[in-house]
Parts: sequence; C-alpha cells; structure tokens
Amino acid sequence: MPPLTPEASGSAPVSVGIRGLGFYVPEKVLTNADLEQLVETSDEWIRARTGIRQRRVVAETQAASDLSVAAATAALADARLTPEDLDLILVATMTPDMPCPSTACLVQAKLGAPRAAAFDLSAACSGFVYGLACGQQFVASGAYRHVLVIGAEVLSRVVDWRDRSTCVLFGDGAGAAILGVGARGRILGSYLGSDGTKADLLKVPGGGSRIPASHASVDQGLHYLKMNGTEVFKLATRTMAEAAERALAQCHLTADQVACVIPHQANLRIITAVVERLGLPLEKVYLNVERYGNMSAASTIVALCEAVQEGRIKPGDIVLLVAFGAGLTWGALVLRW
Ligand code: ACO
Repeated sequence: MPPLTPEASGSAPVSVGIRGLGFYVPEKVLTNADLEQLVETSDEWIRARTGIRQRRVVAETQAASDLSVAAATAALADARLTPEDLDLILVATMTPDMPCPSTACLVQAKLGAPRAAAFDLSAACSGFVYGLACGQQFVASGAYRHVLVIGAEVLSRVVDWRDRSTCVLFGDGAGAAILGVGARGRILGSYLGSDGTKADLLKVPGGGSRIPASHASVDQGLHYLKMNGTEVFKLATRTMAEAAERALAQCHLTADQVACVIPHQANLRIITAVVERLGLPLEKVYLNVERYGNMSAASTIVALCEAVQEGRIKPGDIVLLVAFGAGLTWGALVLRW
C-alpha cells in the first residue's frame, strides 16, 4: 500500500489542515410517518433496520450547487476567508445539477471565486473522504493555498419513491471544508480503495453514455438508484473497518488512540458493526443518521461539522473519518484536531 502523505513517505512534512467548516441541510423534514403514506413500510421497520427517523428533502427550486453554495459560504465565514482567496473548488457528488458542466463550476460562479479552478469528483458516499485526500495533495505540493472541498447530494431526485427498499434510506444535504497550510484539523494520513468489479451492486444505470435518457429508459425507471442492500451491507462493514485500520497504521496510531469516529452515516447497524470490528465503543462515534439518513458524499462532512459545533472534538484529538459507497469505493482519513 503506497503511503499517501508527505509525512508518511518521509519527505519534508507539510502540515495541511482544515481552516473552516460549514454545512447546510434543506428545511423540509420527511419523517418515517410521512413515508408510511408513500410506500408499504413502517417507522418501526425503518428504525430497527437502519436507525433513521427522518431525513431532509430539498425544495423544488434547489439543486446540488445551491446546497453547496450555502455550505461553502458558512465554511468561508468560519475560515475568515473570502471567495477570492480560493484556488480550487472540488465538489464530491453523485447528484450533480446536470452531467455537464460540473457542479463545481456552477458553485465557482455563484460564490464569485474568479481565481479558483473547479471540478467534480465522483466517488459516491466516499466522495468527501476522497475529496479531502485529493485536496490535501494540492496544498501539500505547494500548488494551491486554499482548497474548498464540498460534499453535496440531492438524493431525493434519484431515488424511486415507489421502491421501499431504497427510498427510506436517503436524504439531501451539503457540507464544506477549506484546506490550507498549518491549520487545525491537520491531516495525518489517509487510505482510499475501490473495487469496480462490484459496480452493479449500487448504481444509477440510465442517463449516461451507456443508456442515454430516452422515453424507454425513463419508462423502465433506469434513472433511479438501484441497490443490492444485503451485499452492500456486508461489503460496507468489511471495507470500512479495513480502511480505518490501514489509515491508522499509516499514521502509526492504534484504534484506541482515536477520540472521535466520524463514519459515513448509511445505517446504524453498519456503523455498529464497523466500530465493533475496530474494538471501539459506540460512545466514540458521532451519529446523525437518525436525523438525516444517508446523505452520501455530504454525510461525513455534515457529521464532522456537527461534532465540532457540539464540542465532541477538542484540540489535540485524533479524529477518524471513514466512508464507503458506490463504485465500490471506500476510504478513511485521520486528523489531529
Ligand atoms: N419497509 C418494510 N419492509 C421492507 C422495507 C421497508 N422500507 N424494505 C425492505 N423491506 C422488506 C424486504 O422486502 C424483505 O421482505 P421479505 O423478507 O418478505 O422479502 C424484508 O424487509 C427484509 O429485507 P432485507 O433487504 O433482508 O433487509 P435488511 O435487514 O438487509 O435491511 C437495508 C435492508 C436497510 C437496505 C440493508 O440491507 C442496508 O442498510 N444495506 C446497506 C445499504 C447502504 O448502506 N447503502 C448505501 C451505500 S452508500 C452509497 O454509495 C449510496
């Protein structure tokens, strides 16, 4: 496994950390009771199988770039920076405003960040962890001073509201972090993994170059998210635990040194299984799956923002971000706060 940080590789250490954090979730709350009106399900089933009680859903006028801009504005204020200070905007999303141009370019225009390069990153629920690891490289290399990394999703627009096996799981939201040199929340190391042979387990089959949007593709519902939940569950548990162990090992740390775990918030049962494998108590895990469901790329960053806001992370703490998603992709990242 190649080391991913200058520290780990033994070259001159460049301390890259988080200068500002911000998040946004839409106002509209969709409860399990609301879903009981849409599909044959129950609050009891959803809570027992997933831990989710409610999720947020965008207004008709909102898309991923709108959520991104709200989160980014909060992160800029937290960092005491202006949009002109940004050198790069990176948006991790599987629900972009449109296939082309990138949501990152739309965000760049709406924020008014004329100096920033901008591109999207596609790694589904692992997107924010991938994004931080990617943004870190630009700062560590000296190419850029300030990199805005956003995780933003509007999953309510790609779930089939007639399919009870998926529509109860997801929610909308966005979070943003600004990376810079020598900041708090120093990135100590990361590990990223993928397995494209399992791509069929979780996908939106239509609307791309394989199956372009057509009357037929829409009639067959190919523009909706399809998932083999049981297989995804098993693989998520294993790969998240492995990613966490590898990222910690890279930093010469052990699981018991972690003060706070910020996992991808897909399902409480997955999270419980992962921390059990790591030998960590659930009390060390920040959870918001109950309130937001699975917000894919927005999940880990919104949880990190809330954990910091609530004082769950203190200066000097070791924080472990760990995620899993379609691709398949997975990753973990270790921070010292
Ligand atoms: N309400 C009531 N019953 C339901 C519902 C529902 N919403 N959904 C499924 N069921 C039924 C099924 O039809 C099945 O009935 P049957 O036994 O009569 O066939 C029964 O409940 C059990 O279904 P399972 O799929 O075995 O339930 P399971 O315990 O595996 O839980 C779940 C399903 C919650 C989807 C679980 O498999 C899971 O969380 N998987 C991981 C999903 C995930 O995390 N995906 C996101 C990955 S990240 C990304 O990149 C987007």
